[in-house]
Order: sequence, then C-alpha cells, then structure tokens
Amino acid sequence: MSGETDHSMEARTAQGDELEPPASFVEQANVTDPGIYDEFAENWPECWEQAADLLDWDSDYDTVLDDSNPPFYEWFTGGELNASYNAVDRHLDERGDETAIEWIGEPTDEANRSYTYRELHREVNEAAAALRDLGVGEDDVVTMYMPMVPELPIAMLACARIGAPHSVVFAGFSADALATRMNAADSEYLVTCDGYYRRGDALEHKAKADDGLASVDHDVTSVVVDRLGDDYDHPMRDDDVDYDALVDEHTGADVDPVSRDAEDMLFLMYTSGTTGEPKGVKHTTGGYLSWVTWTSQAVLDVKPEDTYWCSADIGWITGHSYIVYGPLSLGTTTVMYEGTPDYPDKDRMWEIVDEYETTQLYTAPTAIRAFMKWGEQYPAEHDLSSLRLLGTVGEPINPKAWKWYYEHVGGEDCPVVDTWWQTETGGMMITTLPGVGEMKPGAAGPPLPGLDVNVVDGSGQPVDAGDAGYLTVDRPWPGMLRTLYQNDERYVQEYWAEYSDTDSDDPDDWTYFPEDGAKIDDDGYITVLGRVDDVINVSGHRLGTMEIESAIVGVEGVAEAAVVGGNHPVKGEAVHAFVITEDHADGGEELRERIIQGVEDAIGPIARPESVVFTPELPKTRSGKIMRRLLEDIANGDDLGTTSTLRNPDVVDDIQAAVEGE
Ligand code: WT7
Repeated sequence: MSGETDHSMEARTAQGDELEPPASFVEQANVTDPGIYDEFAENWPECWEQAADLLDWDSDYDTVLDDSNPPFYEWFTGGELNASYNAVDRHLDERGDETAIEWIGEPTDEANRSYTYRELHREVNEAAAALRDLGVGEDDVVTMYMPMVPELPIAMLACARIGAPHSVVFAGFSADALATRMNAADSEYLVTCDGYYRRGDALEHKAKADDGLASVDHDVTSVVVDRLGDDYDHPMRDDDVDYDALVDEHTGADVDPVSRDAEDMLFLMYTSGTTGEPKGVKHTTGGYLSWVTWTSQAVLDVKPEDTYWCSADIGWITGHSYIVYGPLSLGTTTVMYEGTPDYPDKDRMWEIVDEYETTQLYTAPTAIRAFMKWGEQYPAEHDLSSLRLLGTVGEPINPKAWKWYYEHVGGEDCPVVDTWWQTETGGMMITTLPGVGEMKPGAAGPPLPGLDVNVVDGSGQPVDAGDAGYLTVDRPWPGMLRTLYQNDERYVQEYWAEYSDTDSDDPDDWTYFPEDGAKIDDDGYITVLGRVDDVINVSGHRLGTMEIESAIVGVEGVAEAAVVGGNHPVKGEAVHAFVITEDHADGGEELRERIIQGVEDAIGPIARPESVVFTPELPKTRSGKIMRRLLEDIANGDDLGTTSTLRNPDVVDDIQAAVEGE
C-alpha cells in the first residue's frame, strides 16, 4: 500500500483479516513468549506441571500423566489438594480484605453484595459446617438448583471443602430435568432457592424444585435460600431446611478443608448428547482445577488486582470454570450478575462495566448479536475504558459480530479471544493466546500449547487447509472429563469409539472426538463450524434433539416427531419441530400449544420450539432414517437440492406447504 496507511479496523481486517494484539495489552500480558508452543510440544506432558504449580498442594503428585489405561487417563496422580482451600483460604494473608465476589442483583434499587476473601472464607466455612451437620459426607453428591445468587458459589465451595461433589442444575431447566439428574446421580441433598428476579418480576423457583422432588425416587433433604424476602412467601415442605437458619447455627464454625486425591471427583455436570439421557460429565480436583486456573491466567489474562466479569450462568460449565474456580483460584475479583442484559435498559452490561471498572468481559456470541441489534449507542453511553480483554464462548462467532464487539465494546484496544471448548474439556482448548498470537475474526485460533488438535476426514486423515472436516484431540489434557458418571462404557462409546482402536493399550491409538465440524487454515487457525451430532446450540445452550423429540412424543395425540436446529439471527440456532399426529392431520393451535408446553415441562423454556409444523409424514431415506439435513433446509428456507434418495419424495411438497400455511 502506498501513501497514507489506513489504520482503520476495516482496512486492517480486509488485509488478510488479521489483527495484531494491541501493544498496550501485550506490554502487560501474563503470557507473551511465542516460544511457549514449542516449549510445551517438546516438554509434554511435563509442561502441565506449570498449570499444577499454580495451585497449592497438600501433598505433591508423583506422576504428571498416567496413560497406562487409555482412555481412562489420570493426571497428577498421588497428589492431594482441596479446591476450596485453593480458591479461598490461600488468598487470606495477602488478599483477605480484597473483594472475591462482587454480586450484582437485577433490581437497581437494592444494595449489591460484595464478599471479601475473608468474608467468603467465613461463609464457606459456615456453609460447610451446615451441610456436614445435615449429614453430607465425603463423596455424597449434592445437587444445586439455583439461580445466580451468591449462595450458589458459596455452596459449591462448601461442598468442595468437605469433599462432596456438586451437581449444579441450571435454574432454567424444568422440574423433570431436575428429577432426572438427581435420580441419575443418586443425590440425596438439594440446595435450592425460593426464586429470583427476571426483568423486574419476582419469579418463583421453589415450586419447580418441589415438583421435581416429587419425581425423585429416594429421600432428599433440601436447603432453601431465601432470595426474594417479602416479595415471595415460599411454602416449606417437612424435609426443607432454611439456609440462613441452618448457617446461623454454625456461626464462627471452622471446617478443615479435606485433602482430596487429585483424581477425586470435584463435580458432576449433566449435559446433552445424542440420546435422550443426559450425560453426567465427571471432573476431578487436580486436573480440572489446574486447567481452569492456567487458562484463566494465560487466556483471560486474569491478575489478582482485576475486576473480571464472565456473564455466563453458573448453571453451565462456563460459570463453573470461569466465574468460580478459575478466577477465585487466582485470587481476583469475580463479578456475578443476577439478571438479564436489558433490564432496566439495554445498557445494563455497560453500566456495570463502567461502575465496577471491569477489566475483562467474557460473554457469548448470542449476547453480542443482541447488543448489535440494540445498537452501538448503548455501549457508547458509558466509559468502557477499564476493559483490557474481551472473550467469547459457546458457539461460532461470525466476523461481523466479532468486529462489532472489538470496535464498540473494546474500542479497538482490547484483544478478543474466541475460545472453543466444551463441558467435557473442562476449560478452553482452542483460542489465541491474547498476548502472543494475531487475531483472525471468525476463527477461534490455534490449539492451546501442549494440545494436539486436528481436523480430519471420516477416516481420520488430516484434511487440506480450508476444507471442512471433524475436530479431534489426539492427546489427553489435564482438564478432560474422566468418564461419564457410573457409565465407563458410554464414555468410551460417545467420545473415543469413532477414531480410536478401542482394543489398544497404546495411548497413541486413542483419539477424543468432540463431535464438532471444523476447518483449519495454513497458519493452523481453526474455525469451528458446529456440532455434527444431534445436538443443537440455542443461545449457546446445548440441547439434544432426542430429548426434545421424546418430550414431544410424550404429548397426547402425537405419533412421531423430528426436531432440527434452524438458523436464528440472535439465538444462533432455534428449535424447529416437525410433528406427525396420530390421525396424520393438522393438530391445530391447541395441540401446538400442548407440544410447546410439553417441551417446557420436560426440559425448560430454552428448548421451546420456534415453530411446530404438522406433517403427514417425515422425509426418510430408504433405510428408514429421518433426513434431518432436509428438514434443516426446509426450516432455513434453503434450496433443497436432490431429494431422490428419499423413500417418500412427495412428502417434501407436503411439508413445504405446511410450513407456508403456518
Ligand atoms: C459446544 C459445547 C464451552 C462452554 C460453553 C458451551 C460449541 C463452544 C465455541 C466456539 C464455536 C463453540 C461447540 C461445542 N462451542 N465454544 N468458540 N466456537 N463453537 O459448552 O454446552 O458443552 O457446548 O459448544 O459446538 O461442542 P457446551
């Protein structure tokens, strides 16, 4: 380029679509040495001692990686530690009076609750004493069905302190979903909440919890947090215990953190898969905690003096890893916001960044698309200059949304990390290191150092740059899930069978398959294209089509159903249901409403179908498989291409007529 150089972002991204991280960021970044990639590759798996070294261990581990029984890998074996000690106690000397959790309720006329590390330590000890008093012992699974209230991370850390794994169920899930998870985990304890605020209204939650408990096949003791006070006089069952009253009985109590084996379970998290039954992903104390702590430091650039904000819900893995365990282990201030980004107005997020001088913001593409729709005037009204880094997670982000975030939130002065990972990976896997690599809007980046990630074809051979293929992870990593709870067989089947020689004892013959499609460019940057299994991603929330279909088939009058994800401008994907009624006729408005209600009851409002199309038949291949691809094209209004492989090609016209008539 001759003459005056155009430094505008448009010009820079147009030139090969690459952006250097801002110099002001690099100067102070936690990781700046590009040599880290070679260093970790050459020194694998010992490189991961660097992650373990960020933690305090009660006793040292003997082995970094035990890969003698793939795919049941073990990390930091022989080591002992406690997650609550690492997230809280060890910061008391230096940071006892600094804020650990800055909790912001949705109502603006209510005082926020902020906890210093010393206060958090008190709360966690008392909650741990209270849970123990109820009978919770080491290895008992405690379920939490709670919205974004401070008692949620406190209860999680209290469990970690006494060695009781938690299983947090997203508060937006239905009563049925709660019951399924409590039954699957044999969980005899529940911590729940009376309700919470959403867009100014007090929403009751306790009734949903009680409904769920009615379907749990064993006795449950439940502890109820009072969030709404006088706004909601919640009923208590005979077995319910009031959280505050219970904790008050233990004022001043100290509970020694239990030394847990590195491989002991820290928590379970249920997530959706191809079949109707949710998968209980098991994460461990040593490997998981090392992973989220190291990635918080290396990727989110968290420093103790930061006010770091991840806007996810703790009911999902993002909140576990990057609101609670990662940031607190580093002794920083973590922000927790109860409500929605558009209450009382569409600038709430920016108001919070401005008021609390937030240094990082980690959010989801679906939120960014909503901000874009609302308009740049909302962030522009606030001083966002405290921000140093932006992150996104949960689904692919297109270059347009990426650039909007970079420009209107980051002021072109903050690196954006597009982080690919999953519930199963525990923490981030593919992303640029913000102080090292250039950014390419739309591509997550290279795999993190020490990871062996590839994009392959159906037979496991690497695809050429630019071609679509499947993502694989060819070496274990500390944060990986260890198994599916009490179901080793399904663990092997779901994640390893596709690309591994499952008879082999040689770890080189084992490959993890995340079930995502991807492409890779000449620089090794990976663009993740989305799920290749029957999982759809609605606003960054992972839903199984089978779960939704079985909910629909459970509705009286329905004979068969197929659910697909269609494109949606804000949610990313939306649920579209194609339904055959028992009399093969149009079910009408009444049945449509019962179907929608059926899905909300079985899973929750997030799974609510955007459209319900009644059709006399579903498109099937000659072997009888539903052609989902075709239904997706119909949902998206796309060109259908060839339908000659169908057993019943005429059905396509019928369905299209039904879609148009809807
Ligand atoms: C699925 C995992 C990671 C925590 C939140 C979701 C999709 C996640 C990205 C990204 C493209 C992404 C994948 C993945 N996904 N991050 N940066 N770019 N896709 O966790 O509920 O386990 O869902 O989310 O499809 O498999 P999850």
